[in-house]
Amino acid sequence: MKVLVTGGAGYIGSITSHLLSQNGCEIVVVDNLSNGHREALPADKTVFRECDLLDAEELNRIFQNENPEAVIHFAGLIQVGESIQQPLKYYQNNVGGTLNLLSAMKRSGCRRIVFSSSAAVYGNPFTIPINEGELLKPVNPYGHSKQMAEQLLIDSQQSGDLNFFSLRYFNAAGAEYGIGESHSPETHLIPLALHAIQTGKPLSLYGNDYPTPDGTCIRDYIHVGDLAHAHWQALQSLKKRPESHFYNVGTGSGNSVLEIIHSIEDVTGEKVPVEIKPRRAGDPERLVADNHAIQSRLGWAPQKSLNDIVQSAWEWEQTKKF
Ligand SMILES: NC(=O)c1ccc[n+]([C@@H]2O[C@H](COP(=O)([O-])OP(=O)(O)OC[C@H]3O[C@@H](n4cnc5c(N)ncnc54)[C@H](O)[C@@H]3O)[C@@H](O)[C@H]2O)c1
Repeated sequence: MKVLVTGGAGYIGSITSHLLSQNGCEIVVVDNLSNGHREALPADKTVFRECDLLDAEELNRIFQNENPEAVIHFAGLIQVGESIQQPLKYYQNNVGGTLNLLSAMKRSGCRRIVFSSSAAVYGNPFTIPINEGELLKPVNPYGHSKQMAEQLLIDSQQSGDLNFFSLRYFNAAGAEYGIGESHSPETHLIPLALHAIQTGKPLSLYGNDYPTPDGTCIRDYIHVGDLAHAHWQALQSLKKRPESHFYNVGTGSGNSVLEIIHSIEDVTGEKVPVEIKPRRAGDPERLVADNHAIQSRLGWAPQKSLNDIVQSAWEWEQTKKF
């Protein structure tokens, strides 16, 4: 299968590209390298096109020349805090980019897409674990941009243009194929805690007075390799059956910030320097996925433990090349 991967030079996109390449797919990566790394791309069966999704003309040309059978759409800006400061930048990139992509797909007759959505579409959910039927009430422009992109997919599906899988990731973490997180700036807990060990600069822990067993927020950390497999299974399903679905992709169990810190200390044998700060506005106390839908309908299940996540992230931090 020939698959066009937007954002394929980024963290999750490059690791998924390695998995697809290993499974015999031809890959066309489209990335503007605003946050991606060319070195992260697989060497085999991969064509790289440096292109911004906002450049509709160039995107159409790529679709006409490459004629992919399916798309995986990772490209996007991902920082919640920045999205609050610069909302229009997020809507332009994440919604405008998706609009151009769907238009290019329609023109070239490409009818299958897997989309990187996020638990951020739920905002502060009523029910934990969160299932896909939960009311969508994002609490920041990043989450709204993901919900809007999902709406574009729904409307395109209803008009008969395409079928989609929208995968709502919880917290992607860990390393695979020698590639780990390298966001700039980094905002995710596990790399930040590992950087704190490496630099001695304390990790900011926002809030230790939440109504959770140890007072810190609980999140669902999913190994990036397991996440990549969910995309591969989604593509195979789309190829067999023209159906559209929304699926949570998480482990179904949560870990608090302090549990993550303790796991990092066990793996590294080092103390994580921590500075307790006040709560951040809009941080829900607990976000954990109900993953029964993807387990029962796609046969996907997470294989890796929290220890695998931390161990692989630590190896990456010590050897990383970009
Ligand atoms: N990392 C997580 O925990 C997480 C959780 C939920 C959802 N997601 C979603 O998964 C996707 C991938 O996340 P990631 O952590 O790999 O981020 P990343 O920043 O490493 O990768 C995103 C890639 O998209 C590219 N890109 C951004 N805007 C572009 C544009 N207009 N045109 C072309 N390329 C563009 C960047 O250069 C980068 O390579 C994102 O859409 C993100 O919102 C990530």
